[in-house]
Amino acid sequence: MTRSVVTGAAGFVGSHLAEKLLELGHVVIGIDNLSTGKAENMEAFVNDPGFIFYEADIRDRDSMEQILDTHSPIECFFHLAAVVSVPFSVQHPEITHETNYKSTIRLLSRSRKAGAGAFVHAGSAAEYGNESRLPIKEEYASDETEHLSPYGRTKYLASREVARSSNPCGVSLRCFNIYGPRQDPTSQYSGVISRFIEQALKGIPLTVFGDGEQTRDFIFVEDVIHAYLLSAGINPANGKKSPPKRGIYNVGRSESITINRLADIIKSIIDPELPVAHLEPRPGDIRHSLADISKTVRTFGWKPSWDMKEGLKKTIEWYRENPETL
Ligand code: UD1
Repeated sequence: MTRSVVTGAAGFVGSHLAEKLLELGHVVIGIDNLSTGKAENMEAFVNDPGFIFYEADIRDRDSMEQILDTHSPIECFFHLAAVVSVPFSVQHPEITHETNYKSTIRLLSRSRKAGAGAFVHAGSAAEYGNESRLPIKEEYASDETEHLSPYGRTKYLASREVARSSNPCGVSLRCFNIYGPRQDPTSQYSGVISRFIEQALKGIPLTVFGDGEQTRDFIFVEDVIHAYLLSAGINPANGKKSPPKRGIYNVGRSESITINRLADIIKSIIDPELPVAHLEPRPGDIRHSLADISKTVRTFGWKPSWDMKEGLKKTIEWYRENPETL
């Protein structure tokens, strides 16, 4: 049986990845310190006999040693645990550096000892800073890029190192704006889609920052999970394996949508009469973001399959069924 590690297994994306790997018959070693991840995210699979969970911090070398010693050999190492909040990274640059950069480098090297064939790292569109050339190609992020936060900088540095590794084969996925079931809507800094859906279901005005003409490239979480699997050389349909391909890859739909249009679609699904409140623009916001995904499509044969409206309907349905998350 294939053994995979998922760090950040209690997070929004990590929990979907762990669940899918279990479905494909992997034994999954999940690691999460539950700082931003939540035990509830693992409810659907925590009792699966193939799932082994450790509440541990990736900065804690002894715990990581012990876990990897116990479960070697590992085939695929999916590394999603990180400081994920941009404002937190600004307030705590050292913790962010230790978590997002140093721990990633340590785990990359430790995963080699554990026999891993692939090491897939959660990169971020934040690695591009305020890039004005659109659509954004992978090579636009460089040492000269002015990152807008320690979050963006540490993700960039970690991706750069991961992509240099050929043993294990290092892959970093720079995901654009991910949305879907289990995304936490409750913080001021939560993703706009989770916030709009929460507001709409509560019947309160949707809060659009600025004129709402800024654009983003949103991608449904299931498409992201397929990208994680394919990049590790795993066929999402049947679990069959092929060699992974080292490098940095964008993951988005390569379609942009304005925040105003997004608000309209959510209203049209939940309640067309809902009011919209235009608030001050959010400081530090980038204006436009759009992924060039041609390298990802060419290399893995991956394609986003969820269009915006279908992905939003599925997400809304999930929040309706899980009102306690709102
Ligand atoms: C996203 C990431 C961030 C990363 C950045 C890199 C999320 C949650 N955040 O930020 O970690 O650094 O990409 O490119 O994925 N908006 C509203 N009303 C709201 C909330 C947001 O109008 O209530 C607007 C924002 O002003 C922004 C857009 O929606 O223009 C998207 O916001 P958000 O979901 O926070 O994502 P990013 O800003 O793209």
